[in-house]
Amino acid sequence: MRAMERFMFPMYLWAISTLFLVVMAATCHDHSLLENPAALFIFGDSLFDSGNNNYIRTSRGFQANYRPYGETFFPSPTGRATDGRTIPDFISEYAKLPLIPPYLQPGIQNYNYGVNFASIGAGALLETHQGLVIDLKTQLSNFKKVEKQLRHNLGGEEGKALLSAAVYLFSIGGNDYFAAFAENSGSLVSQEEYVAMVIGNITNAIQEVYNLGGRKFGFLNVSPIGCLPFVKALDPARTGGCKEELTDVARLHNRALSEALQKLEIQLTGFKYSLHDFFTSLNEITEDPSKYGFEEVEMACCGNGPYRGFSGCGSQTRSYELCENPSDFLYFDLVHPTEKAYEQFAKLFWNGSSDITGPYNLKSLFELDNKCRPNLGSS
Ligand SMILES: *[C@@H]1O[C@H](CO)[C@@H](O)[C@H](O)[C@H]1NC(C)=O
Ligand SMILES: *[C@@H]1O[C@H](CO)[C@@H](O)[C@H](O)[C@H]1NC(C)=O
Repeated sequence: MRAMERFMFPMYLWAISTLFLVVMAATCHDHSLLENPAALFIFGDSLFDSGNNNYIRTSRGFQANYRPYGETFFPSPTGRATDGRTIPDFISEYAKLPLIPPYLQPGIQNYNYGVNFASIGAGALLETHQGLVIDLKTQLSNFKKVEKQLRHNLGGEEGKALLSAAVYLFSIGGNDYFAAFAENSGSLVSQEEYVAMVIGNITNAIQEVYNLGGRKFGFLNVSPIGCLPFVKALDPARTGGCKEELTDVARLHNRALSEALQKLEIQLTGFKYSLHDFFTSLNEITEDPSKYGFEEVEMACCGNGPYRGFSGCGSQTRSYELCENPSDFLYFDLVHPTEKAYEQFAKLFWNGSSDITGPYNLKSLFELDNKCRPNLGSS
């Protein structure tokens, strides 16, 4: 009798686990990251744009589809505002995805690996560079079209699985502060109120993607923008050249972003995120360039004037200076880091420790719930 009981107990467990496995097999395909990586959807500004602004009516300052942009890697210009690859390009490589195309590029076959909605110059507020960029709201309505098409093509269950396993990357906010600063911000609202508007719009965007099925999010915070070559060039006589007021707004933004994300994690079931402290990682390079393999962290590689911080990199009508070796430089042009710097940030975003990227890093976000993703084969 006792022996029988001992026998029955494992039998019962065995039956339960078998049932469980059968249920799992019915709803999930077990594929490794290598065979079937989660999709990557990209939103934001020039740090992430892979060429959307090539297809909109805008001004040359909001495009990078001319030489010498892209030459280090592609080697012809793609619309990426740097000498080579951007952060999302490296992330897609680490996640075993192909390069993610810009949404407006004609002839995209399907969205199974994701797509890039980002736009050079875009902000979270509609007023930021209005009429010259694809604002965040429009990026979201473009995502809605993609979401509809994915659900239509893959069917309800598979579409849902793809959207919830996908990672949604955001880099947004810097342009909102540049735009306010350029207008000498009529100071109708305080800095705190302005930051709250930007964060409010970012929060709305996250909520919308979540409502459409997104669960895994990645964010860059805003770098010390008061020390960008273009800001320094406006007043090179200033000690150190940096405009501290602008960097202070970035600090306010970063604190508010981090708090907003912590709130969302509590409010939204299943919401998971990775926040890379771009402010700190960029600052560390500035403070100890040789440790990270850089020779020049103040002057841009390409441009004009003090710190090469005047626009004109790649101009056909004016002369401009171009460095010999972009990989010695932190900045490629007046605003944007070089490919070499982007690679270092991407690595920290991908597998950095919790002091620089948290609460998840992107690698762990991509691997999360990896079993319950649709098998898309090699399409
Ligand atoms: C973002 O802010 C603007 C104000 O600039 C507002 O009109 C717009 O509706 C907001 N967009 C989103 C997506 O919340
Ligand atoms: C982090 O990822 C990068 C890119 O795949 C790789 O080069 C590096 O060795 C990784 N570091 C660790 C500590 O795993």
